[in-house]
Amino acid sequence: MKLRFAAVALIPFAAVLALGSAVHAQPPTKSIWDGVFTDEQANRGKALYSENCASCHGSELTGGEMAPPLSGGEFMSGWDGLTIGDLFERIRISMPQNAPGSLSGQQNADILSFVFSANKFPAGQTELPKEAGILKTIKFEVKKP
Ligand code: HEC
Repeated sequence: MKLRFAAVALIPFAAVLALGSAVHAQPPTKSIWDGVFTDEQANRGKALYSENCASCHGSELTGGEMAPPLSGGEFMSGWDGLTIGDLFERIRISMPQNAPGSLSGQQNADILSFVFSANKFPAGQTELPKEAGILKTIKFEVKKP
């Protein structure tokens, strides 16, 4: 009888634990400041950016007549506190605006590397992955933590 009570009493506890781990399945564990792309990748991205993005966003990422800048204060503060995965998804779904979805995940990851490099985030030893799930674990933050 006592044993049964103990088992029942444990159920809500287990449920809370399960729920907790589901909600926190992928908390941002890394920062954009941790060196999350390589220089070589940013170079590849630069060529892709020139071809697919510069016509609207400008070769210096300063924006154009219609398109917003992809560098500087407004861009940075707009994404501050979100994840690289969010930015990646935004590009994957809606850009290039004249042909959304036409680029591969790898190409988008390379372009993002170039955008980060142009915004003076540090390069590192490993390439930025193209899996949105992993990218959601990397936080975009304007200030170095
Ligand atoms: C034909 C013009 C055009 C091209 C090409 C284009 N964009 Fe855009 N982009 C826009 C416009 C216009 C907006 C703002 C309206 C909107 O969100 O659709 C925008 C918005 C964005 C935003 C959101 C900016 C913010 O801070 O909210 C990102 C990121 C972006 N573009 C990235 C890219 C990338 C990367 C490429 C190349 C793969 C690209 N764009 C190509 C026109 C373009």
